[in-house]
Amino acid sequence: MAIHFPTEKNATKRVISFWEKGGPDFEYYASADQEDWIKVFWEENTVFCKLFQTLDLKYTLEIACGTGRHSAQVSDKIEKLYLLDTSKAALDLAEQRFGNQKDVEYIHHQSGLGIPVDRIKDNALTAVFSYDAMVHFEKEAVESYLADSYRVLKPGAYALFHHSNYDKNPGGKFSDNPGWRNYMTKSLFCSLSEKYGFQVVHSEVFSFSTTDSDCVTLLKKP
Ligand SMILES: C[S@@+](CC[C@H](N)C(=O)[O-])C[C@H]1O[C@@H](n2cnc3c(N)ncnc32)[C@H](O)[C@@H]1O
Repeated sequence: MAIHFPTEKNATKRVISFWEKGGPDFEYYASADQEDWIKVFWEENTVFCKLFQTLDLKYTLEIACGTGRHSAQVSDKIEKLYLLDTSKAALDLAEQRFGNQKDVEYIHHQSGLGIPVDRIKDNALTAVFSYDAMVHFEKEAVESYLADSYRVLKPGAYALFHHSNYDKNPGGKFSDNPGWRNYMTKSLFCSLSEKYGFQVVHSEVFSFSTTDSDCVTLLKKP
């Protein structure tokens, strides 16, 4: 079946629209809980699983959580979980997943830029992470989450981000690229992280939708 791509002009809003109810990739949520899709991130020895061990999960924010399938893998280690996404329908599914089994705050953040100050205070969190989402984001959104992750983390805490390393088609549409990776590079991501005060602890490029398309970066707030 042909996918009808949104014609929205604002690039960040266009990305957001893909996962809103009725958007071209809303069906993603129904598939993403399959064992094979989970294993990519959570099987032992994957770079995702190994670097995740660095995080102190007591007060954790997952950015662009979708239905919360990643936080669900580690929820027994989290005391207070903040789930942020632009898709209200995804957050409703997350709420069904977690029910009242744990202290979860759902942050429906329509602008898709930054972390609302009224929802998470400065220096409040022990970990921030994002998997399988930032790879699609525009630079302005990536930058906004770097700046605000620094703001909300306690000194000494870590952030872990799965992002794009797709260095072609700058200024183009993310949906024209393999795996819908948006334009970003490891070196640009690391320099933006440092701009907002982070130390880059580890940054590793790997092939996902095409050769060297993806990167995972572990950051520390000094
Ligand atoms: C491919 S889905 C991945 C969801 C989740 N991380 C997972 O792996 O199941 C991408 C997610 O990013 C969210 N999203 C898109 N743009 C966003 C933005 N600017 N800020 C926050 N979330 C965003 C979408 O609503 C969607 O839930």
